[in-house]
Amino acid sequence: MKRVALLYGGRSSEHAISCLSARSVLAVIDRERYEVLAVGITRDGRWTLTDGRIEAAAGELPVVPDDGPTVALVGTRRGPQLVQVDDAGPGTATTSLGHVDIAFPLLHGPWGEDGTVQGLLATVGVPYVGADVTASSIGIDKAAMKASFAARGLPQLGYLVVDRARWETAPAEVTAELEARLPTPWFVKPARQGSSIGISKVRGSGELPSAMAEAFDHDAVVIVEEGLEGARELEVGVLGHEVLEVTGVGEIVPSHEFYDFEAKYLDASELLIPADVPVAVAERIDTFAREAYRAIGCRGLARVDFFARRDGSVVVNEINTIPGFTPASMFPMLWAAQGLDYRALVDRLLGDAAR
Ligand SMILES: Nc1ncnc2c1ncn2[C@@H]1O[C@H](COP(=O)(O)OP(=O)(O)O)[C@@H](O)[C@H]1O
Ligand SMILES: [Mg+2]
Repeated sequence: MKRVALLYGGRSSEHAISCLSARSVLAVIDRERYEVLAVGITRDGRWTLTDGRIEAAAGELPVVPDDGPTVALVGTRRGPQLVQVDDAGPGTATTSLGHVDIAFPLLHGPWGEDGTVQGLLATVGVPYVGADVTASSIGIDKAAMKASFAARGLPQLGYLVVDRARWETAPAEVTAELEARLPTPWFVKPARQGSSIGISKVRGSGELPSAMAEAFDHDAVVIVEEGLEGARELEVGVLGHEVLEVTGVGEIVPSHEFYDFEAKYLDASELLIPADVPVAVAERIDTFAREAYRAIGCRGLARVDFFARRDGSVVVNEINTIPGFTPASMFPMLWAAQGLDYRALVDRLLGDAAR
């Protein structure tokens, strides 16, 4: 029996989404082979052992409850262990809760999908599901991600990276550079976020200052990108380490003008699987997805997202190293369409992590 620490919740704005993913994973983990330690990370960053029940009042999203014991993962003489920490006062005591064989960091966004938690897991020596430190931190950072895609010659939309210091000192110069280089509309995005948080669509330079302010609320680096109108949003799932497997293509039909936070989680947008695309487009996407996965040095899993123009040309939008993971999310649905159902997918990921 292997002991799996499922890490969920976390400090990012995607806390609740992670709880939803974790609830579904907890329901299907094979309890004959795995003993599960449900480790919630509160919004403040406290690690707490929960009973694995993830609940929310009607109409609300779940959160990690803050009333459980504090726990920590540490390297010990007997290998990586989960310990309970008495954090009531000074002179704290710890109690071992036993060894941990595998961790499943089911955390989206900063402090979870970005290599920080992966670094802790690597340091204490726990094998874990998904991308390593480097791939996670490149994958979360749209500036680093785009640079590594560009180095592989992957097609992308035009973009400019702007840091806060430059925007604050020379906004007119940045605006002029954007006007000269990128057709409108523009998408303004914090470099390291997720779930469309802090992203705005801007029709011209008049709307730029408020969009930049909004994006800089989330990160000190912002991407301004050429926006497409009427392009299709197509996605595939990838699994594997050296040998990669790629799903067929799925399509998102956003319920809003673009696939913003609400369209993602509150007003169900439509997912079409398989997407009705010409064979040539599907083949291009398959090739680019493998290249994108390798470009960041990914392992384990990722969802790679594309835009397809009406003329059949395809550009890579982004890679997500911990994609949305409820049974109704795109990544698990894509695998289900390949014959790998949700339970088998979780099994496969845990098995891959232990290798
Ligand atoms: N350049 C663009 N042109 C058109 N739509 C875009 C563009 N960039 C982003 N979007 C829309 O915004 C959504 C979120 O952007 P994305 O870059 O995927 O950020 P996140 O990492 O938050 O998911 C996309 O799913 C898409 O609907
Ligand atoms: Mg996205």
